[in-house]
Amino acid sequence: MKKPLISLFVIAASLAWAQTDSTPVSKVPAAAPADPHAASAVPVLQIDAGKVTGKVSPMLYGLMTEEINYSYEGGLYGELIRNRSFKANPTWPIYWEAVGNPAVGLDQNQPLNPALDVSLKVDAGAASEKAPAGIANGGYWGIPVKPDATYRASFYAKSDNFHGPLTVAIVSTNGKMIFASAKVPKISPAWRKYTVRLRTKNVPASKDNVLEITTTTPGTIWFQQVSLFPPTFDNQPNGFRPDIMELLAAMHPQFLRFPGGNYLEGNTISERFDWKKTIGPVEYRPGHKSPWGYWSTDGMGLLEFLEWCQDLHMQPLLAVYAGYSLGGQHVSPGPDLAPYVQDALEEIEYVTGSTSTKWGAQRARDGHPAPFTLHYVEVGNEDYNRSSEYDGRFAQFYDAIKAKYPDLQIIATAPVTSRTPDLTDEHYYRSQEDMEANAFQYDKRPRTGPKVFVGEWATRVGSPTPNMAAALGDAAWMTGMERNSDLVVMASYAPLFVNVSRLRGQDRSMQWTTDLIGYDALASYGSPSYYAQVMFSTMHGDEILATDSHNIPTREWQPRPFRGRTPPPEQLRQIFFDATRDRQSGIIYLKVVNEAGAAQNVHVQIAGASTIRPDDEAVVLAGSSPEDTNSIEQPRKIDPRTEEVHGLSADFTREFPPCSITVLKLRTK
Ligand code: AHR
Repeated sequence: MKKPLISLFVIAASLAWAQTDSTPVSKVPAAAPADPHAASAVPVLQIDAGKVTGKVSPMLYGLMTEEINYSYEGGLYGELIRNRSFKANPTWPIYWEAVGNPAVGLDQNQPLNPALDVSLKVDAGAASEKAPAGIANGGYWGIPVKPDATYRASFYAKSDNFHGPLTVAIVSTNGKMIFASAKVPKISPAWRKYTVRLRTKNVPASKDNVLEITTTTPGTIWFQQVSLFPPTFDNQPNGFRPDIMELLAAMHPQFLRFPGGNYLEGNTISERFDWKKTIGPVEYRPGHKSPWGYWSTDGMGLLEFLEWCQDLHMQPLLAVYAGYSLGGQHVSPGPDLAPYVQDALEEIEYVTGSTSTKWGAQRARDGHPAPFTLHYVEVGNEDYNRSSEYDGRFAQFYDAIKAKYPDLQIIATAPVTSRTPDLTDEHYYRSQEDMEANAFQYDKRPRTGPKVFVGEWATRVGSPTPNMAAALGDAAWMTGMERNSDLVVMASYAPLFVNVSRLRGQDRSMQWTTDLIGYDALASYGSPSYYAQVMFSTMHGDEILATDSHNIPTREWQPRPFRGRTPPPEQLRQIFFDATRDRQSGIIYLKVVNEAGAAQNVHVQIAGASTIRPDDEAVVLAGSSPEDTNSIEQPRKIDPRTEEVHGLSADFTREFPPCSITVLKLRTK
């Protein structure tokens, strides 16, 4: 049995306090006032179970997502073929290789349709039994092969002079292993879709593989929309990668903010997330360039985002394009903006409308007759400092949306004065120390304005994924959001995903460092910050309890110079905490972050609870150093562990390990 980590500690100090903690960070003080707890100098955390300061928002913990770091292409979206539509480059079929000696090239004269208006011409005139010819695709840094798995390969093809067969196979890059193969006996002169199933045997998992389509008989063949899907989450067609979905499901996210971020806006207006071009059969989606520098097929379109919400029981938080693109192109408020406002109204109708509406009927034709529930619409993204016209553009969207959908909550992405948004979206990307220094920023925020949605936030320490130092900064920050979640009603970490296959150089898979979940073609893992999120989002009550603290140890921190001025050093707290209670079960969830590199003995005092059960459990995430982290090779090096605890009471001492985040459950019934 594990050694109990709790021992009783009797403190004579009065428990007559009930203030929200208000002394987070101090400038280096001249002389501290006399502290009644100073005798012991042991940190004291006080919880007043008799004083509820607010309700924990049931929507507090959600997800934010966009196409960045190969989040969908080469990420969540199951498609394994890279550049399946040959549109990623206008002059050359990048990511495709010739097998044998055929002449290959893009052909604008043989389009599949107006959306996929180019095809790959493969002239295999010299193909023979001894010299097969064709094409190969290595996917997104590899094609994953797993044992006993069924893959679905499909493509459109046509040929005037070739009668088949074509061999479709998953083979190792060095050509030594054929993992699965199937034949398409005949190709017709007109475009037609061909589908085969590829079943692997009991082989070891690997990713250094390609998909090949080859012939041993001569001819010229045109291809378009060459696709390979592995088994997907819930076996859904055009579906998602199961391992990543499982990581997300464990977070119990309440909402999904999509489709961005910068990805919503695009570098130019024509490269925005133009939702109407992302719906319907995938072979009718033209795709577009993401502002993060690579091609999106839009296989992950509006309906797929909504289905993702449905699969994980998340509410959609739909961001609509608000007339501003990143390169500076923007649409001024007034008549020029009207078509974009109309487009947003139609998008909302696509999401929520009955099948008797034009766009609800379109959604039904796309395969989803039931409307989705929508409560939140966000107008644009980070529109502060971006053209001076956001206020006017916001007002135009706000008025039109509220007129048709009065119950929708409308989120502004910058301060506005013309209308009162239901929520404002704030973004914070900070160092560990900055996060900790600001962990109390909402305690003092007046409750008179709109509610707050922290739509993007992260402690940016660690690459490609955050390390333990980042998780500590995140957790300190989350105690602040949770303690103030009467005001901060929604929050989502960003970015969510990174493909870690190629971190640097040309054709890199990462555009932004410090991302919550990492993966390559074969495996995925959660960072320490991911586990901190899981702990916070799955273990909290619905009531915020008043807290106070004393004798909190500090360390000196020198903030970075700002606008040429070096600010004075600050004393940073090393312990952060908050307490919430589940009203029904009476469980108090005490979250304690010890960011120090040494263990801390801490007194915990609970007033206003008639009983505290002596035995319970704690969930602890700890690293051996701030640099400690998880990776593809060591996916669970830092992992929450559950411990039994004994000796709990209204007044106890617990040792919190170095660099740790703890959720302690205290049963008051
Ligand atoms: O999360 C990465 C980017 O940061 C988002 O696309 C943008 O909204 C923010 O600037």
